[in-house]
Amino acid sequence: MSMMVDRTKQLLGHYSSLYSYSEIMGFDRRLSLAQVRRHWRAFLRSSPFGREVGLHVHIPYCRRRCTYCDCSSQPLGSRTRLDAHLERLRAEMRYLRDDFRAVHMRRLYVGGGTPNLLSPAQLQCLAADVDACFRLRPGAVRSIEFAPELTSAMKLEAARAGGFDRISFGVQSLNPRVLAAVQRDRMSATRAERAVRGGHAAGFAEINVDLIFGLAGERTCSFHRGLREVARWGPHTVTVQLLANSELGSAYRSRGHERAVARRFAGYAEQLEARLDVELPGYRLALRPRTLVLVHESLLRPWESWLDFYSGQDRVSVSTLGLGTFAQSRMHTAWHLQNMDHLADFDPEARHYQGRRFTPELEATIDATAALMIEGRCDLAALRHRYGPAVEPLEQVVNRLVARGQLGRSGAFLSAGGGRKNPLLPLLRDLSQASAANDRDGRGPVTDPRLAIQGRLAEAPEGQAPGQRAALKVNFRAGGSRWFVQVEPATDDRRYYKVVGGVGIFYGSHGPWSDETEHPLGQLMENLARRLAAARYSAGDVTDHAPQVRSLVVTELEARGWSTEG
Ligand SMILES: C[S@@+](CC[C@H](N)C(=O)[O-])C[C@H]1O[C@@H](n2cnc3c(N)ncnc32)[C@H](O)[C@@H]1O
Ligand code: SF4
Repeated sequence: MSMMVDRTKQLLGHYSSLYSYSEIMGFDRRLSLAQVRRHWRAFLRSSPFGREVGLHVHIPYCRRRCTYCDCSSQPLGSRTRLDAHLERLRAEMRYLRDDFRAVHMRRLYVGGGTPNLLSPAQLQCLAADVDACFRLRPGAVRSIEFAPELTSAMKLEAARAGGFDRISFGVQSLNPRVLAAVQRDRMSATRAERAVRGGHAAGFAEINVDLIFGLAGERTCSFHRGLREVARWGPHTVTVQLLANSELGSAYRSRGHERAVARRFAGYAEQLEARLDVELPGYRLALRPRTLVLVHESLLRPWESWLDFYSGQDRVSVSTLGLGTFAQSRMHTAWHLQNMDHLADFDPEARHYQGRRFTPELEATIDATAALMIEGRCDLAALRHRYGPAVEPLEQVVNRLVARGQLGRSGAFLSAGGGRKNPLLPLLRDLSQASAANDRDGRGPVTDPRLAIQGRLAEAPEGQAPGQRAALKVNFRAGGSRWFVQVEPATDDRRYYKVVGGVGIFYGSHGPWSDETEHPLGQLMENLARRLAAARYSAGDVTDHAPQVRSLVVTELEARGWSTEG
């Protein structure tokens, strides 16, 4: 494999279309703020992840929407909406503050949208509201996003007076034709420079500039000229994101166009790295999937400390309390939520939030899937460190996939295996569907990836698995889906629904799970376990007495009106 391909993979991810969890999982229910508060209370009280919480305050407005943008925001329209939004934020903070009294927030991030649509007085007011309700750790970064064209010395000073020490300017491009094409018409190189230099004058400890690679009409040479110009203004970091397609922004003409830009991006990064000292003295280059970060030697803080400001937070064990319309919240291993309220009257009982429940097992499976998709490999040791025993079910799944050659493994590192397809992704989708269906009935999310994989592996052609065990499998139909029950001598590498006298039993599906059968399936397993115990079958009997064991299973299935196959 050539150096170029390696670098492309490193930069773009093997599967460049995956940006975040929500694209795999989505939300599946509505909740009220009162319910959200109860979940936070339980999470903070009992989860080991409740100690690392960041605060995100969302300002969901922009002067006008840029065509490419994938952030959650709307055109402001009337300025009275800002007052209403701040009022709403205050109410939300006051409603939640008692529950967060003991939490020392690891950072504050005010983002958007465009937070500097706020007037200087509003900026200070917002900071005061935050400080009245939440406590930040000593030294915690307080960061705010500014659109350069709406920046003034007074707003910068107000942000500093409000305690913000990091500022991020959304410059995107210095090319006037590109800016016009993406409807960022008031932005210009002059305004961007003035904003960044103003940030220095106001005394921000850390200044970041955002640029986007791949905007309409931007050639690599004009992008590079822009980057060099930006570096002359002395930002501590420059974050270059590869233009992302999203539901919110129309970025690319076609998949072919997207792929071509992605390759150009990878090639550009490689050239830049080779000539960095000459092109951008004082900066070093850090590569992340779809992102290229230039870090100046004057930056005192380790630059990784702010990685979770970006979508990278999906894959760190940090939880986020998101406040304001469109803000996303995340209780790591427990809930993902988004506030969808639209400035209606503040009503904690109204179901303004969309959400999805999570579990450590599910989170570990998602982490592994995302890492394989984005980075082409997954560090199981790191997952074990993060989730402890909750990784075990995933490890058993992985062992089976490795044995089948569907995943590669070298020490603790998993790789995507021989084919390009990531075998964890369909499993995750199954798991997600099963979990949502189960959870809607109040039975709690399905947490065990093995339940999903059993069905998937059952579909694989027989004879593929090395060391196949002597198992008895009965296929049947129930609730419009195809299922199976398997009975086998229990082994350590599989978690069973139940093990009775050395005999392991479990069930799985050949397709999507249906909620109406899952509960009866549990009862079926219980009955079957009782029958096996009563018959005193041992591990060796599973094959020796296969017809009798099969008849036990069939009797139980038929008692429920489920027809067996084969
Ligand atoms: C929440 S936006 C806020 C930026 C700020 N409103 C501004 O534009 O001045 C944060 C950053 O996301 C990045 N961004 C927005 N849409 C993007 C897309 N489609 N692809 C890649 N990056 C994007 C931009 O670099 C932007 O600065
Ligand atoms: S890039 Fe910034 S200003 Fe443009 S729409 Fe997105 S959030 Fe608003």
